[in-house]
Amino acid sequence: MNQRNFVIVLVIIAALLAGWMFYTSQQAVQAEPIESISSKYWSSGHADAESEAFTHWNEDDPAEVPVFCAKCHSNSAFADFVGADGSEAGRVNAPGKINDPISCTACHSDAAHALDAVTFPSGNEITATGKNSVCMTCHSGLSAGTSVDTTVEGLDEDAPIEGSSLMGPHYYHAAAVHQGADAAVAYQYEGKTYVGAFKHANTVDSCTKCHDPHSLHTRDIPESDASLCSTCHSNVSGWADYRSVNMSNIDYDGDGTVEPVFDEIEGMKVILEEALNKYSQAVVGVGFGFDFDNYPYAFIDGNTDGEIDESEAIFPNQYNTFTPRMLKAAFNFMFVQKEPAAYVHNPDYVLQLLFDSIEDLGAQSGVTTAGLTRP
Ligand code: HEC
Ligand code: HEC
Ligand code: HEC
Ligand code: HEC
Ligand code: HEC
Repeated sequence: MNQRNFVIVLVIIAALLAGWMFYTSQQAVQAEPIESISSKYWSSGHADAESEAFTHWNEDDPAEVPVFCAKCHSNSAFADFVGADGSEAGRVNAPGKINDPISCTACHSDAAHALDAVTFPSGNEITATGKNSVCMTCHSGLSAGTSVDTTVEGLDEDAPIEGSSLMGPHYYHAAAVHQGADAAVAYQYEGKTYVGAFKHANTVDSCTKCHDPHSLHTRDIPESDASLCSTCHSNVSGWADYRSVNMSNIDYDGDGTVEPVFDEIEGMKVILEEALNKYSQAVVGVGFGFDFDNYPYAFIDGNTDGEIDESEAIFPNQYNTFTPRMLKAAFNFMFVQKEPAAYVHNPDYVLQLLFDSIEDLGAQSGVTTAGLTRP
C-alpha cells in the first residue's frame, strides 16, 4: 500500500468511527421509549383538548382562535408562527383552529428545533436553545408593564380613570418571571434596579432541565427515587415539599417569622392588597379588593372591611376607577398571582416588584415598607 492509499484508508476508518460514535450517542439520547413519551404527553395539560385554553373560542362566530391569541392556543398556529408551515417565521398569518391542543408537531419540526430567540411582550429579545425557546414562546405573557405606561400617558398619577379595568400580563407567564429584568414584562419602576434571569444552580437553570417536556412535571432522576431537588434541598422528597424550600432565611414580609420564600411572597401580597385598598379609600373614596374565583378579579370593597364577600364579587361591582398608580401596582400583583410557581422561577424578582409597588402607594395608603426587606 502506498502512502496515498494508506491515508485514504485512515480517513475512511476515521469517518466510520465518527459515524459510529454519532450513532451510539443518538441512541443514548433516544433511550426513552416512544410509548413512555406518548403516555406522559397524553396525561399532560398540553394535550387537554377540553381545557378552557383550547375551547374558549368554541362559541364564537366564526369558531376560530383570533390571530392575536392563536400562537399559544392552537397547535396549527404555533407551527404557523415558527414558520413550519412554510409561511414567514415570527408571525401568525391565519386564525388558529379550536380544539387544537399543543401536540408533538408544535415542538418537533425543523423550524421549532431551530428556534433560538424569543421576543417578550416588552419587546426584549432573549436567545435560548431550541428546546427552551419553544416553552418560552408560549409562556412569555401577553402584555408587559410598559403597556400600562402607554395607557396612562399624560394622566395625573392619582387621578381616577372612569371605566378603567385591571391590567395584567395574562397566565402562566413562567418565562417572563424566570427571565426577570432580562425580559422586563412586569411593571418596573423608574430608578429601581431588578434582578435578571434566576440562575439557581447549573443542573436546574432552564425550563427543560427542571421540566420533563412531555409530562411537564419536574424531571425524574434516572434509576432513582430521589427528587431532582433533594440533592440540594434535603427537605424535599416530592411535589408537596417544593413550597417549603427556604434558602434565603429572610423575613421579607416583616411579620416577625422567617418562613419559606413561598410564604414570604404570599405575605407581601397581603400587604400590597391592603395598600391598594387603603390607597383607594384615601384617593378614590371607595374600597378595593381582589377575588380570584370571580372574573374580572378586582372589585369594590363596599363596606371597606378588607374582604370581598359573595355579594361584592359580582360583575356589576367590578372596580373601574383605577388611578395610574393603582394600575401599575395591580399589574404587578397580577404578575405574581397568575404565576403560582413564581417562588421557584424567580423569587427575588417578584419580591422586588411587590416591595416597590407597596412603596409607590405608601404616601397615600399609609402602608409603608418599614419592616419589609427588598432583596
Ligand atoms: C404568549 C402566549 C399566549 C397568548 C398570545 C395568549 N395566551 Fe391565553 N394563555 C396562555 C397560557 C400559557 C395559558 C395557560 C394558563 C392556564 O391554563 O391557566 C393561557 C390561558 C388562557 C385562558 C384560560 C384561563 C383559565 O383561567 O383557564 C384564556 C381564556 C385565554 N388564555 C385567553 C386568551 C386570549 C383571549 C388571548 C388573545 C387576546 C390569549 N389568551 C393569548 C398563553 C397565551
Ligand atoms: C411542549 C413541547 C413538546 C411536545 C408537545 C413534545 N415534545 Fe418531545 N421533546 C421536547 C423537548 C424539549 C425534547 C428534548 C428533551 C431533552 O432535552 O431531554 C423532546 C425530546 C423528544 C424525543 C427524544 C427523546 C428524549 O427523551 O430526549 C422524542 C423521541 C420525542 N420528544 C417525541 C415526542 C412525541 C412522540 C411527542 C408527542 C406525543 C412529543 N415529543 C411532544 C418537547 C416536546
Ligand atoms: C404552543 C404553546 C405552548 C408551548 C410551545 C408550550 N406550552 Fe406549556 N402550556 C401552554 C398552554 C396553553 C397551557 C395550558 C394548558 C391547559 O390549560 O390545559 C400550558 C401549560 C403548561 C404547564 C402546566 C401544566 C398543567 O397541567 O397545568 C406547564 C408546567 C407547561 N405548560 C410547561 C411547558 C414547558 C416546559 C414547555 C416546553 C417544553 C411548554 N410548556 C411549551 C402552551 C404552551
Ligand atoms: C428550578 C426548576 C424549574 C425551572 C428552571 C423552571 N421551572 Fe417551571 N416549575 C417548576 C416547579 C417546581 C413548578 C411547580 C411549582 C408548584 O406547583 O408549586 C413549576 C411550574 C410551572 C408552570 C405551571 C405553573 C405556573 O406558575 O406557571 C409552568 C407553565 C412552568 N413551570 C413553565 C416553566 C418554563 C416555561 C420555564 C423556563 C422559562 C420553567 N418553568 C423553568 C420548576 C422549574
Ligand atoms: C444543584 C443544586 C440545586 C438543585 C438541584 C435545586 N436547587 Fe433550589 N436552590 C439552590 C440554591 C443554591 C439556591 C439559592 C440560590 C440563590 O439564592 O441564588 C436555591 C434556591 C431555591 C429556592 C428559593 C429559596 C429562597 O429562600 O429564596 C427555591 C424555592 C428552590 N430553590 C426550589 C427548588 C426546587 C423545587 C428544585 C427542584 C425542582 C430545586 N430547587 C433544585 C440549589 C438547588
